[in-house]
Amino acid sequence: MQRSFIAGIGHYVPEKVVTNDDLSKVMETSDEWIKERTGIATRRYGEKHKETTTTMGARAAEKAIAAAGIDKNEIDFIIFATLSPDYYFPGCGVLLQRELGITNTECGALDIRNQCSGFVYGLSVADQFIRSGMYKNILLVGAEMHSMGLDYSTRGRNVTVIFGDGAGAVVLQATEEEGRGVLGSCLHSDGTYAEKLSFINPGAHGGYHQEHEDEQHDYGYADAEYGEMFINEHMITNGHIFPYMDGPFVFKMAVKKFPEVIMEVLKKTGQSKEDIDMFVPHQANLRISQFVQRQLGLRDDQVWNNIQKYGNTTAASVPIALSEAVEAGAVKKGDLVCLAAFGSGFTWASALLRW
Ligand code: COA
Repeated sequence: MQRSFIAGIGHYVPEKVVTNDDLSKVMETSDEWIKERTGIATRRYGEKHKETTTTMGARAAEKAIAAAGIDKNEIDFIIFATLSPDYYFPGCGVLLQRELGITNTECGALDIRNQCSGFVYGLSVADQFIRSGMYKNILLVGAEMHSMGLDYSTRGRNVTVIFGDGAGAVVLQATEEEGRGVLGSCLHSDGTYAEKLSFINPGAHGGYHQEHEDEQHDYGYADAEYGEMFINEHMITNGHIFPYMDGPFVFKMAVKKFPEVIMEVLKKTGQSKEDIDMFVPHQANLRISQFVQRQLGLRDDQVWNNIQKYGNTTAASVPIALSEAVEAGAVKKGDLVCLAAFGSGFTWASALLRW
């Protein structure tokens, strides 16, 4: 049976290192608080006016394409996952195509808006296209330029200290090799708590969701007028043009859903947690990863964490971590690799791969 496998992988992080002390100069926070609650010591920020989500995605994609040993015009489908696109529309998929200089218009481009689980969702979509025989070389990118959209005042500190910029990419190809490649994936969603981790403006909601909102928090549903889909005065004054997160709520959901979706994909593919060689979790919070690690009974060298260096890079976090693990020789041919992510939506997902 034909499956997909990762034929090439690469990542890119911008040069600029932002420390916790740097952030404490502009908002009330501290290195101690951030490290203790999240494990994060530094994050990277893209260079303003020079780098974007698309350009960082392109740098990672170039490495993945080179590692796969193909020409960029052999790519027949692009999947781009991000929550920080260059433009409201069009999406980063076509911008990446242009940035890479892919002139083949037979190539399709699809954008995924699934935030932290975007890459794992994208992997599953790519896998289905390859299994069905529709495409041969799929470029899947996860990239984020969070630094352009964060609230650097104390009001936004619970969100801002967590996020960082970067990109990761893979080229997926077909293989007939017995037992190799993507063995299975599980995708889930529950829109009940959509606003608990959200960035609602710009949007065409016009105040509609106010009807359903959590009474405790003003998410910024200003009574937008026709023509005010993007931004109005109320949204600016009240900081509703930035991401919002109910941190403790998200934390509780994450520690429940990560183990569930991992056990599900193991069962679906006939594997057990003892079979996992490397677990690459979405880098949401080091405490979440450590909790899941304990549940799975994995040693430290069986879990790849890099949130300490890069913070949470949302759709880019799984491919950056996987790429680093591969580069370091921590993932070898034949290894069973487990990927899992949870985030805004809520959406959560897992995938199991035989490297
Ligand atoms: N620096 C200093 N103090 C901060 C702070 C910061 N960066 N951010 C929040 N605080 C303060 C709060 O204002 C609050 O103060 P108060 O008690 O005086 O009101 C206090 O710290 C506790 O806030 P809380 O939000 O309850 O903290 P927490 O222990 O839950 O930690 C997170 C906050 C964000 C680190 C944590 O909730 C978390 O990691 N949640 C999951 C986030 C996540 O995974 N998001 C991505 C999903 S993919």
